[in-house]
Amino acid sequence: MCGIVGYIGHREATSVVLKGLKRLEYRGYDSAGVAVIDHTLTIHKKQGKVADLESILGGKDLTSKVGMGHTRWATHGEPNDANAHPHYSQSGKLAIIHNGIIENYGVLKKDLISKGYEFRSETDSEVFIYFIEDIFKNNNVSLEEAVRMALNKVVGAYAIVIMSADDPNTLIAARKGSPLVVGLGKDEFFLASDATPIIEFTNEVVYLNDYEIAIIRDNELTIKDTKNTTMTPYIQTLEMELESIEKAGFDHFMLKEIYEQPKSIHDCMRGRLNAQDGWLKLGGIREYSNRLIHADRIIILACGTSWHAGLVAEYVFEEFCRIPVEVEYASEFRYRNPVIKEGDVVIAISQSGETADTIAAIELAKSKGAIVFGVCNVVGSTISRISHEGAYTHAGPEIGVASTKAFTAQLTVLNMIAIRVAHRKGTISESKYRELLVELEQIPAKVERVLKQNEKIEEIAAVYKDARNFLYLGRGYNFPVALEGALKLKEISYIHAEGYPAAEMKHGPIALIDKDMPVVFIATKDSSYDKIVSNVQEVKARHGKVISIVTEGDDLLPTMSEYTIEVPATHEAFMPMVSVIPLQLLSYHIAVMRGCNVDQPRNLAKSVTVE
Ligand code: G6P
Repeated sequence: MCGIVGYIGHREATSVVLKGLKRLEYRGYDSAGVAVIDHTLTIHKKQGKVADLESILGGKDLTSKVGMGHTRWATHGEPNDANAHPHYSQSGKLAIIHNGIIENYGVLKKDLISKGYEFRSETDSEVFIYFIEDIFKNNNVSLEEAVRMALNKVVGAYAIVIMSADDPNTLIAARKGSPLVVGLGKDEFFLASDATPIIEFTNEVVYLNDYEIAIIRDNELTIKDTKNTTMTPYIQTLEMELESIEKAGFDHFMLKEIYEQPKSIHDCMRGRLNAQDGWLKLGGIREYSNRLIHADRIIILACGTSWHAGLVAEYVFEEFCRIPVEVEYASEFRYRNPVIKEGDVVIAISQSGETADTIAAIELAKSKGAIVFGVCNVVGSTISRISHEGAYTHAGPEIGVASTKAFTAQLTVLNMIAIRVAHRKGTISESKYRELLVELEQIPAKVERVLKQNEKIEEIAAVYKDARNFLYLGRGYNFPVALEGALKLKEISYIHAEGYPAAEMKHGPIALIDKDMPVVFIATKDSSYDKIVSNVQEVKARHGKVISIVTEGDDLLPTMSEYTIEVPATHEAFMPMVSVIPLQLLSYHIAVMRGCNVDQPRNLAKSVTVE
């Protein structure tokens, strides 16, 4: 979602900010803008891409050493030039960029209008900066103090950066509920909504906490909270490499990330699992590990693809650990009055660690006494910080909006947690434990084998690229894979697709099947194989076009399918990490052939930081 970049130092701010905005394009946006101070405070903004913004800046002599920029994903007000950020204050002396939503903006706006203020946009963010200016003018306080006073009055979520024409050596930033990182360079500072725009300049960063205000003035960073207490900044060194956020010769980030999976799954297990010596350890789950082992129930909270990983984990935990599991959409859970008892534990899954609904659901669970384990990819993210304990997925930055390597890394972590708990609980035997470790360790090599079939998958994509609908069917561990396959196709190719448990097809979707309906069966050899073969027959009988994902050596399903893609055999609990790969590639190729913007699909955001 919306992206923020700020710069103050010795470089030309505009180019640093524009470069940063390009790095943030993956988050999803519909307009972009910058503010700089070249004698006066000037804003340039435009609906569309950062490239469109660059074209209106072309030829302008921009030498400002301070600047900020924004990519906006519309919430209040349609995507157009007026609603794009930055926004001036009424006098034009202040400017703001803002991520998040100010919930009481209506009341504030009404009050400001009654005082004679005139608004130029429909956004809550403009109200925010007018409100700050109103306090600044009428209370005889510093800008920093006015910002602090305003923050204590607004309701909602924000990450903001503010510039002042009268104080060009200062940037003021603040966060509550929306991420903000400060990069510390040599005589220069960077601000961004995630570390990707910062990494090529410095790896020293400070993640702001909620209710913190960063004041960067005269080459010094001060952090205060909204009660005006000075905080000691916790400086972290990022391990992220610049190469990890570049395409490395691939046409798209999504393809690069699909191909990275043997490595990302391996990285996720590195130092945690050794099948030969029979050990499995997760450094992030220690103090509360007994709560997990003795849990009466596990509640999994997540959204999107992470929710699909949670569905797989439900089967895994119930099978290996004999603990009942409930998988909840975070957005539903947070607005119910869920029953949480002593003995319940929560596992929250999130690639970004910043999804607003998942954060709110965690806070609710914590307020009812639950212990929360976070499974996040982004180190230092909000969810990783508010969880009691957890395990990172270590998949590296995921830039493609459609999640791929994060999903398989989440499954890897969740499997490791389940096996460890089951071993300690004694719900699996020692020999089973050893066998599972050996199987898990072999997953990267098996994924590598599936990737070798890319060309064949591309050919299948060419046959079905113009289909208007797709059905994805699976059973057992492969049911969530069917959901994930359908989601991938919808997200990037805009073809309507549905994922279903294969047996449920008879209760509705079977009515849709005709000669024009491609049906993807994820039908690997597992405990439900015979049943799914019957479901394939049912589709064939209605002239549906069957594409089946089968286990290597299966000689039955190929006789019943238009196309088959073979994947190596593995334990059925681990099969989703392997069987999802052809579905990722299929949707990728179909989207490319349809001319879609694979890495930045329309309307979608990489990280949904508003509810
Ligand atoms: C967005 C992304 C999805 C992601 C979901 C949950 O919708 O486009 O790819 O699965 O959010 O995000 P999270 O970061 O919490 O896993």
